[in-house]
Amino acid sequence: MRERIGALLDEARAALDGADTPQSLEALRVQYLGKKGPLSALLRGLGQLSAAERPEAGKWINAARVEMESAFAAREAGVKKAARALALAGETLDVTEPREDYPLGLLHPISTILDELVDLFSGMGYEVVEGPEVEYDLYNFELLNQPRHHPARDAQDTFYIEDNIVLRSHTSPVQARTMLSRKPPIRIISAGRCYRADEADATHSPVFHQIEGLYIDKGVSMSDLKGTLEAFARRVYGPEVNVRFRPSFFPFTEPSAEVDLTCPACKGAGGCRVCKGTGWVEVLGCGMVNPKVLELCGIDSAVYSGFAFGMGLERLAMQRFGIPDMRWLFEGDARMLGAGRGGSAQTEGRRGE
Ligand code: DAH
Repeated sequence: MRERIGALLDEARAALDGADTPQSLEALRVQYLGKKGPLSALLRGLGQLSAAERPEAGKWINAARVEMESAFAAREAGVKKAARALALAGETLDVTEPREDYPLGLLHPISTILDELVDLFSGMGYEVVEGPEVEYDLYNFELLNQPRHHPARDAQDTFYIEDNIVLRSHTSPVQARTMLSRKPPIRIISAGRCYRADEADATHSPVFHQIEGLYIDKGVSMSDLKGTLEAFARRVYGPEVNVRFRPSFFPFTEPSAEVDLTCPACKGAGGCRVCKGTGWVEVLGCGMVNPKVLELCGIDSAVYSGFAFGMGLERLAMQRFGIPDMRWLFEGDARMLGAGRGGSAQTEGRRGE
């Protein structure tokens, strides 16, 4: 009996050594410790032994069961540990590995241009200020020397909320607000959405963006304006760009000018669609702040002078990234995004349409 039990334990231990999964371990448990296993059979056979042999044999069988159970427990712990290590190895993540197909957020062309301009003008000492999009007629028109019923208002036909409240038709009302609330020297830029009652087409949109600049101090002259805008042109269009000032009219500046730059598409050669064959693209309006506007906004025009400029960001973005239709900038097509990275490549996908 003793030998049989000893042999059984040896056999079970050998079998256990070969069990390396929870499943094979369970099968061995049933085989050796189950009701139909050899130990249970031995227990059942106790009845056939003599009364003198029985207690001794019973002890051996129980001791063998305890020993076998502890061998199983030890093996089970080993198998679990190995299974865990295997699972962990399989799940290891290399958090430093780049995911090429991950869709990164990219800037809209308008944001790209705006960031660049804010960066440029902040570097020249301009402070960024904001103004409301729903604006009083007073700031949008009256204080900018465009009284009610003045024909100059026609060029900026906008949306009326109430009789004296409009959706601002340009960023220029921020000039009036700033002059009324601060003392010179004033050096600010302001950007944001503007509105006009225009049909949407390839070159118009009822909502668009402008950036405005205003500089007021003693002795500010037209040459300061030209120098500032030339620096802007070189930064946005590159060092080779030519800048042309064309006399123009705005009620809030005198004298006024429009600024044309070398066409970025044909480099001034002419005969291209972007510049309609002229070799120049028009980018902004500017001028010396009309003394009448200074006075209306509480600044002594005998002591101070200043210049101002305003430009549409859509036009800049279209020229810069070769976007032929202004509506593309408002349609929410993700192919428009990221145009600032690597030129106009990202808009290429739409161009074939
Ligand atoms: N506000 C003008 C427009 O929307 C642009 C402009 C022209 C702004 C001359 C200015 C300026 O500040 O001096 O057409």
